[in-house]
Amino acid sequence: MFREPIFRDRVAIITGGGTGLGRAFALRFSDLGARLALASRDAGHLEPTCAEIRARGGEALAVETDVRIPEQVENMVRRTVEHFGRLDILINNAAGNFLCKAEKLSYNGWRAVVDIVLNGTFYCSRAALEPMKSRQYGRILNILASYADGASPGTVHSCAAKAGVLAMTRTLAVEWARYNIRVNAVAPGSFPTEGASSRLWLTPDAEVRALRGIPAARFGRHEELADLAAFLCSDYADYINGESVTIDGGAKWNHPVFDWENL
Ligand code: COA
Repeated sequence: MFREPIFRDRVAIITGGGTGLGRAFALRFSDLGARLALASRDAGHLEPTCAEIRARGGEALAVETDVRIPEQVENMVRRTVEHFGRLDILINNAAGNFLCKAEKLSYNGWRAVVDIVLNGTFYCSRAALEPMKSRQYGRILNILASYADGASPGTVHSCAAKAGVLAMTRTLAVEWARYNIRVNAVAPGSFPTEGASSRLWLTPDAEVRALRGIPAARFGRHEELADLAAFLCSDYADYINGESVTIDGGAKWNHPVFDWENL
């Protein structure tokens, strides 16, 4: 989408940046000139992606971080600023999810997902505030899901946490605009990753069923999501603040009342 290095000199933290969609953001942002700190609870997830980025001529720092622990989040931001001298962009991508009916969900299962998604997003945003505020420049992008402003039977923990992050996106956008910090979100539909498939597509026909609900008749491509993220974090989107952009091939609206296809 972009040909010029729109993120030259910019420094970005991407949580969950070693695998899946986080890796796609990392590669795209690096190709566009950003220097990156990638965070994950599992250091083993980070090094291969950091090595890939370095092999393409980019800069990447791996910072082992559990976003549920504020001290580790503060350390992530401190190490990034020590290493690169600044922090411009934060992508809150780290997530946790699994399929479970609400009636069977344990308190601990609820807490694990809400802690990662909702609390983790706040801790990271709050910790990123000081370096962003001190330079009067910041771009925060929260990764939601297309059900964040709807419902998601089977993942009430994730749905409720993402809805909270959507409200947080809008609220922080208003509070921090005075520091030239913009806070936006993307809400992806089905962008297959190894993590999502193993956790959410448990039956043999799950993939076919998911596909059936997508008017575009295909899954999303990682680079399509990464390009949207790049646009929202770029200075081309400077007047967009507190927004969530759904990218799902139209699936969110595909709940027909009528049997219109057989008319
Ligand atoms: N069904 C029901 N309950 C589940 C579950 C499942 N598939 N997976 C985990 N849980 C419950 C556990 O049983 C536990 O509750 P309990 O103590 O009452 O038994 C609770 O969730 C916490 O599980 P645990 O594995 O101890 O937590 P964790 O902090 O190590 O892992 C998760 C957090 C559960 C979110 C884990 O899936 C994870 O780390 N995911 C990260 C990656 C990810 O999910 N990405 C999203 C891709 S879409």
